[in-house]
Amino acid sequence: MYIELKNINKTFGDFKASDNVSFGIEKGRLIGLLGPSGSGKTTILRMLAGLEKQDSGDILIDGKNVNDLPPSERGIGFVFQSYALFPFMTVYDNIAYGLKVQKKDKAFIKARVAELLELVGLPDVGKRYPSQLSGGQRQRIALARALAPSPELLLLDEPFAAIDAKVRKELRTWLRETIDKIGITSIFVTHDQDEAIEVADEIVITNKGRVEQVGNPVEIYSEPKTPFVAQFIGQSAMIEDYGRLKGFEQSGEGNTAIIRPEFIEINKFEDGGYHQFESSMEDAVVEDVFFRGSAFEVRADINGISITGRYPLSSPRLKKGDKIKILIKKLYTISGNSTEILVNKALDDSELYYI
Ligand SMILES: Nc1ncnc2c1ncn2[C@@H]1O[C@H](COP(=O)(O)OP(=O)(O)OP(=O)(O)O)[C@@H](O)[C@H]1O
Ligand SMILES: [Mg+2]
Repeated sequence: MYIELKNINKTFGDFKASDNVSFGIEKGRLIGLLGPSGSGKTTILRMLAGLEKQDSGDILIDGKNVNDLPPSERGIGFVFQSYALFPFMTVYDNIAYGLKVQKKDKAFIKARVAELLELVGLPDVGKRYPSQLSGGQRQRIALARALAPSPELLLLDEPFAAIDAKVRKELRTWLRETIDKIGITSIFVTHDQDEAIEVADEIVITNKGRVEQVGNPVEIYSEPKTPFVAQFIGQSAMIEDYGRLKGFEQSGEGNTAIIRPEFIEINKFEDGGYHQFESSMEDAVVEDVFFRGSAFEVRADINGISITGRYPLSSPRLKKGDKIKILIKKLYTISGNSTEILVNKALDDSELYYI
């Protein structure tokens, strides 16, 4: 492992911002640190950078314990959420700043700044001031400035949080490509799951100062290990009494489950259509229909259990009060602090026919 955090604890007053945090990062990987506001993401970055000291635990970079190393000697580049640039310096001077601190000569600095402006796709803005750039351009320059001294590790703390949704999407694709080009080990903090899933090789999920799960985006999405992750990722909803649903029997201690829209199939049998699993479907009543561009989102009531699913634009229209049939394909059940996938028995059994 190139970066290792081992049993890191940090309290502010009596508030535990990091609770026994441990994870590692391999060289050249881009890690997404994802969690709700206040879950301790920035605290982790600040400790890694040496801007904050952990109460206990070790931080290793390339096998070397950096606990007592000052920020300037850790070889880390940092991009902050906002106000990252010095407003009274030109773009050129902002990028050159770290190189001047390193006492590089003028010719080197000039060439390096030009190279970085090229890398971030803004070769002509060197003479401008940050106020003369768009938000997205400012963050590109902030990245150039962080990269100027050739750090070994790049930390990005919600770099696009203040930027509007469409530009933000372009920027994250751009960031991924740029980081790939340089091959630098990076940690990207966000509380936007789409951003983390799209950008990161690996995701670390934080909650209340703890690490809930570490895994690649597919694992995090399809095999959540804890109830928190199951609920936090995807468009998840909690339901009670899942044992009442057709094809499911309560397993474990609790009777709470988490369900996502993609786990259910909504059917409207207008003219007596046939469906293989019709007998395993729940009768439901439409409560609400929302148009979501690519599909309808339908909220329906199954005997007191409210469920949301997607419904294709091409299918017969639904409206409030319509009677429908719902096939629930699977659920995540919650038992203590772990989750399990429970597949509808009808689907489970039907697979036997194909073996
Ligand atoms: N210097 C500090 N003094 C006191 N409390 C702090 C300090 N820094 C952070 N905290 C507290 O520690 C907790 C974790 O903060 P942190 O900034 O790491 O969260 P975060 O996950 O980055 O949240 P956000 O997504 O809102 O940026 C918060 O409850 C915060 O109020
Ligand atoms: Mg933060």
